[in-house]
This record gives sequence, C-alpha cells and structure tokens, in this order.
Amino acid sequence: MSWLPRLPGLTLPPQGRHPAPPSPVPGTVAASLFLAATFFVPLAPAQEYAGTEMCAACHEEIFTKFQKSAHKRIERKTEWTDQACETCHGPGAEHAASGDIALIKNPSKLDAGAGDRSCLACHQNQPSPAGRIRNGHAHSQVSCAECHTVHGTREELVDRRPVSVNKQCATCHMDAWVQFQRPHTHRLAQGAMSCTGCHNPHGTAAPSNLNLVAANEPGCLKCHGDKRGPFTFEHAPVRLEGCQSCHEPHGSANPRMLTRHEVRFQCLECHSNIGASAGVLGGVAPAFHDTRNPRFRNCTVCHVKIHGSHINRALLR
Ligand code: HEC
Ligand code: HEC
Ligand code: HEC
Ligand code: HEC
Ligand code: HEC
Ligand code: HEC
Ligand code: HEC
Ligand code: HEC
Ligand code: HEC
Ligand code: HEC
Repeated sequence: MSWLPRLPGLTLPPQGRHPAPPSPVPGTVAASLFLAATFFVPLAPAQEYAGTEMCAACHEEIFTKFQKSAHKRIERKTEWTDQACETCHGPGAEHAASGDIALIKNPSKLDAGAGDRSCLACHQNQPSPAGRIRNGHAHSQVSCAECHTVHGTREELVDRRPVSVNKQCATCHMDAWVQFQRPHTHRLAQGAMSCTGCHNPHGTAAPSNLNLVAANEPGCLKCHGDKRGPFTFEHAPVRLEGCQSCHEPHGSANPRMLTRHEVRFQCLECHSNIGASAGVLGGVAPAFHDTRNPRFRNCTVCHVKIHGSHINRALLR
C-alpha cells in the first residue's frame, strides 16, 4: 500500500468490513445454544459496525476534528473506508442505537496495557513503539493516549517540538526537569533539545529507557561522536561504567556536568589508595604526583585525553 513506507512496519487488523451476521432463526439459536452448552463455546454478542457517519450524528465535535487527524488516513487508504472510529472503539452499532456507554470501548477507561492493544493492532511492528510492552511506560500504567491526542491534527498527535515534548514529560517528571535548571546542563530549558534526545518514551533495552546507538552503545555518542573510540588506550570506566560514572547528564552544579566539584576528587574516587570503597579502582598515580602541590590538582591539564587516547597509555595526548 502506498502509505506504508511513511510508517514502516505499520500493520492493519486483518478484518475490514464486517457483514452483519444473519438474523437469528429460532432453530439456529437453539442449535448454537446446544453447541455452546456441549462444547462450552461462549455465545459472543452480535458484533456490528455502524460506520463513521453514524457516530458523527451524536459526536459531531470529535467527527469534525477527526477530519484533520492523521488517522483519517485509515479511511482513505485502507479497507476501513467509512469505519475509522471503530478501528479503535470496536464495533459500535449497539452503542449507536442506544447511546449507552456500556456498549462501547473507551480506551482511557481500560488499564494502560489493554487500552494500548487497540493502538498496537496497527502500530506494534513499528521501530519505536516496539519495545514498549517490555519496559516502556505501559509497564507503569501510562498509556499511549496519555501522550498522544488521538483525535487531533498531525501536530497534536505527535508534537515533536522540543519545548512541547519537555513540557509533556515534565508534567510527570518534575524532579528531572528541575535538574535541567542547574548551572551546567544540556540546553533543554532553551528548547535546543528534548528528553527524547536521550530517552525513548516507548522503551528500549537499556535501563531508564535510554536511547542506544549502533545497537548497543550509549546514546550520548549520537551527538558526542568524538568520544566513541575504539581507542588504542581506553579509559576503562568510559566503556565499562558509562558516561554517567563521571557526568550528571540531567545537569550539575559542577562545570562539565561532573559529579564532583573539582576534577581531582573525581579522579581520586578511583585513583587513590585511601577510601578504597569504590567497586572498580584504577591504579594509584606514580609517586611524583604530589597532590599537595597545586600543580597536580588539575589532573586533566596533563591527562587531556580523559575519554581515551590513540597514542598514549597515560592519556596524556
Ligand atoms: C445516538 C447517539 C450516539 C451515537 C450514534 C453514537 N454515540 Fe457515542 N455516545 C453517545 C452518548 C450520549 C454518550 C455519553 C455522553 C458523552 O460522552 O458524550 C456517548 C459516549 C461515547 C463514548 C465514551 C464512552 C465512555 O465510556 O466514556 C465513546 C468512545 C463513543 N461514544 C463512541 C462512539 C462511536 C465510535 C460511535 C459510532 C460507532 C458512536 N459513539 C455513536 C451517543 C451516541
Ligand atoms: C486511533 C484510535 C481512535 C480513533 C480512530 C478514534 N478514537 Fe475516539 N478515542 C480514542 C481514545 C484513545 C480515546 C480516549 C482518550 C481520549 O479521550 O483522547 C477516545 C475517546 C473517545 C470518546 C470519549 C471521550 C471524549 O472525548 O468525549 C468519544 C466520544 C470518541 N472517542 C469518539 C470517536 C469518534 C466519533 C471517532 C471517529 C470520528 C473516534 N473516536 C475515532 C481513540 C480513537
Ligand atoms: C487501524 C489502524 C490504526 C490504529 C488502530 C491506530 N493507528 Fe495510529 N496511525 C495509523 C495510520 C494509517 C497513521 C498515519 C500514517 C501516515 O500518515 O503515514 C497513523 C498515525 C499515527 C501517529 C502519527 C505518526 C507520525 O509519524 O506522525 C501516531 C502517534 C499514532 N498513529 C498513534 C496511535 C495511537 C495512540 C493509537 C491508539 C489509540 C493508534 N495510533 C491506533 C493507523 C492506526
Ligand atoms: C510518555 C509519552 C508517550 C507514550 C506513553 C507513548 N508515546 Fe508515542 N511518542 C511520544 C513522543 C514524545 C514521540 C515523538 C518522538 C520523537 O520526536 O523522538 C512519539 C512518537 C510516536 C510515533 C511516531 C513515530 C516515532 O517513533 O517518532 C508513533 C507511531 C507513536 N509514538 C505511537 C505510540 C503508541 C502506539 C504508543 C502506545 C503503545 C505510544 N506512542 C506511547 C510519546 C509517547
Ligand atoms: C502521565 C505521566 C507521565 C508522562 C507524561 C511521562 N512519564 Fe515517564 N514515567 C511515568 C511513570 C509513572 C513512570 C514509572 C515510575 C518511575 O519510574 O518514576 C515513568 C518512568 C519513566 C522513565 C524510566 C525510569 C526508570 O527508572 O526506568 C523514564 C526514563 C521516563 N519515564 C521518561 C519520560 C519521558 C522522556 C517522557 C516524555 C516523552 C515521559 N517520561 C512522560 C509517568 C510519565
Ligand atoms: C543528555 C541526556 C539526557 C537527557 C536530555 C535527559 N535524560 Fe533522563 N536520564 C539520562 C541518563 C543517562 C539517565 C540514567 C541515570 C543513571 O542511571 O544514573 C537518566 C535517567 C532518567 C530517569 C530515571 C532516573 C531518575 O532520575 O529518576 C528519568 C525518570 C528521566 N531520566 C527523565 C528525563 C526527563 C523527563 C527528561 C527531560 C526533561 C530527561 N530525562 C532528559 C539522560 C538524559
Ligand atoms: C541530542 C544531542 C545530545 C545528546 C544525545 C547528548 N548530548 Fe551532551 N551535549 C550536547 C550539546 C549540543 C552540548 C553543548 C551544550 C551547550 O553548551 O549548549 C553538550 C554538552 C555536553 C557536556 C559538556 C558540558 C560543558 O559544560 O562543556 C557533557 C559533559 C555532555 N554533553 C555529556 C553528555 C552525556 C553523558 C550524554 C548521554 C547521557 C549526552 N551528553 C548526550 C548534545 C547532546
Ligand atoms: C572517568 C570519568 C569520565 C567518564 C567516564 C566520561 N567523562 Fe566526559 N569528561 C570527564 C572530565 C574530567 C571532563 C572535563 C575535562 C576537562 O577538564 O577539560 C569531561 C568532559 C566532557 C565533555 C566536555 C569537554 C569535551 O571534551 O568535549 C563532554 C562532551 C564529555 N565529557 C562527554 C562524555 C561522554 C559522552 C562520555 C561517555 C561516552 C563521557 N564523557 C565519559 C570525565 C569523564
Ligand atoms: C570510576 C572510576 C574511575 C574514575 C572516576 C577515573 N578513573 Fe582513571 N582509570 C580507572 C580504571 C579502572 C583504569 C584502568 C586501570 C588499569 O587498567 O589497571 C583507569 C586508568 C587510568 C589511567 C591510565 C593508567 C593505566 O594504568 O593505564 C589514567 C592516566 C587515568 N585513569 C587517569 C584518570 C584521571 C585523570 C581521572 C579523573 C579525570 C580518572 N582517571 C578518573 C578508573 C577511573
Ligand atoms: C603535571 C602533569 C600531571 C598532572 C597534573 C597529573 N598527572 Fe598523572 N601522570 C602524569 C605523567 C607524565 C604520567 C606518566 C608517567 C609515566 O608514563 O610513567 C602520569 C601518570 C598517571 C597515572 C598512571 C598511568 C600509568 O600509565 O600507569 C595515573 C593513574 C595518574 N597519572 C593519575 C593522575 C591523577 C588522578 C591526577 C590528579 C590528581 C594526575 N594524574 C595529575 C602527569 C600528570
């Protein structure tokens, strides 16, 4: 189908139109009751579709809005020609006849996992929502519709402007947002980037739903490619413990977003024979390092290639 390439992996539920089931003749009802009783086959209520025009009669406002929605494409481009409402709400003829809300599915009244299945019927094979069931927000009872305004325009459905994404995330993650107000941080407050620069709201295989690049490397390298390596002489923690072992990516009171206010304290966490409580320790600096001498306090003045070097084991150049 021509629209598929715009949304890789998009699938559609197998059924298109559902012909109304034949009106029950007394004999068949008896026969099916008999079958049901014998084989414990539950008798499903008649599943009839009403069509979008019918919904419009009572839900005019949503119907009007929906004409500008990205999901309008369902009607134009698939077999569900005039039934888009019912792809998410299920067959609605009985509800349309009565207006009884018990007879129609409202995804926002279901738990997140169940509500999301109505979306994933079409979206589950797409790259980004794929990991979702495993460890994304659904796991925490935050549903698709919590972040996506489903009846809205394309811009409302996925508002990609960094300012809007940040605002949305911040409504629930105020503590994270506050960290971005610290003196040294990524420029989220200025709208230069958003939370999704580092996190995938649909879940990833990494802890904290962090983005990965090249399958398994920290997502930081998408923008900080010069730290990628592989280096001839690696600085072990960069690769093994990750960037967070020295940086606070949400922001820090310390220059370079370091976890310590002076670089040497950062280094001495691991390169010291005292306070040996840290898990992985680096070697102790050679004796000529006199840490009482101010000259030796700013370690990165000499060890400039702190993220790894191609030429020097001591990361000096
Ligand atoms: C005869 C009028 C009528 C028609 C036709 C109709 N509805 Fe409704 N619908 C209502 C009323 C009344 C309510 C409850 C008040 C409200 O939310 O507006 C309602 C509520 C709903 C709700 C919310 C249910 C809930 O639990 O909160 C959904 C979803 C819905 N309708 C979808 C549809 C769809 C889809 C169609 C077309 C298949 C449709 N309606 C056709 C009258 C109608
Ligand atoms: C892509 C899936 C999808 C489609 C298509 C869709 N809806 Fe919905 N609808 C939802 C979800 C999710 C909710 C609950 C969250 C919300 O209110 O935004 C909802 C809520 C509703 C409600 C109850 C809440 C309210 O705003 O009053 C009504 C009524 C409704 N839809 C009617 C319709 C009608 C009419 C159509 C077709 C013109 C339609 N929907 C098309 C997913 C969909
Ligand atoms: C019947 C299939 C179907 C169902 C069910 C469905 N969608 Fe969609 N969705 C589509 C189609 C088709 C598009 C438009 C694709 C395009 O324009 O390339 C779309 C587009 C989107 C987009 C915009 C993607 C973009 O890149 O702009 C989002 C977000 C989205 N859907 C979320 C949802 C959510 C949330 C639900 C459940 C409430 C849902 N969808 C249910 C078929 C569906
Ligand atoms: C916590 C908020 C949140 C939840 C929950 C969420 N999304 Fe998204 N979604 C986003 C954001 C933000 C984007 C834009 C991503 C970007 O720009 O990088 C997006 C983008 C999308 C897109 C466009 C394609 C893409 O990857 O850019 C689709 C389709 C989509 N979401 C579908 C879904 C479906 C289906 C669900 C539920 C299974 C869901 N989303 C749950 C926030 C969310
Ligand atoms: C409706 C509220 C809500 C919104 C909106 C929301 N989240 Fe969440 N998020 C949660 C809840 C609840 C959890 C699970 C509890 C927790 O770990 O704090 C969670 C968990 C997370 C986690 C994982 C924490 C961990 O330790 O694994 C990350 C990362 C995250 N959210 C990022 C985002 C981003 C990025 C956005 C914006 C695109 C966003 N959230 C929008 C409610 C929300
Ligand atoms: C520059 C990259 C980056 C950006 C931008 C970013 N995060 Fe994070 N976030 C991380 C990293 C890395 C971790 C893991 C920290 C750890 O494991 O020590 C994390 C952890 C989290 C967690 C789980 C741990 C916690 O602190 O509770 C949440 C929730 C979260 N981020 C939300 C957000 C939100 C909301 C935004 C946008 C306002 C955001 N993040 C922007 C990199 C980022
Ligand atoms: C979307 C791109 C992007 C991603 C992803 C990203 N950064 Fe950045 N980072 C930047 C930009 C741009 C700057 C420059 C900030 C400025 O001065 O405006 C920066 C600056 C920095 C700085 C230096 C700040 C200073 O004071 O000089 C550190 C440290 C840093 N990032 C660490 C990280 C870590 C760790 C991660 C992963 C958790 C990460 N970044 C992910 C774009 C990104
Ligand atoms: C062993 C601790 C450590 C680890 C791990 C670490 N860094 Fe750094 N990083 C530093 C120090 C120290 C500085 C400050 C250097 C200086 O004083 O000039 C720095 C500076 C930076 C800067 C700003 C200056 C520059 O060189 O561009 C960026 C960006 C940065 N680091 C990104 C990263 C990324 C991305 C990762 C993960 C791949 C990472 N760092 C891992 C210690 C570390
Ligand atoms: C999280 C712990 C950690 C931090 C913080 C850390 N290092 Fe390391 N560093 C190591 C480990 C582990 C090695 C590898 C030791 C080995 O291979 O025997 C290493 C290796 C080195 C080496 C090469 C020495 C050798 O034996 O190959 C130098 C030089 C070095 N670090 C300097 C620094 C400086 C300067 C800082 C502060 C900016 C720093 N390190 C911060 C853990 C750390
Ligand atoms: C004035 C420059 C200078 C400063 C400042 C400095 N170092 Fe060094 N460091 C060196 C030199 C030169 C070597 C290489 C010695 C060699 O090759 O045998 C070295 C070696 C090391 C090594 C061992 C490397 C190896 O190959 O075994 C470690 C660990 C180390 N320094 C840590 C630190 C720490 C931590 C600080 C800050 C407290 C620091 N250095 C400050 C110049 C400096």
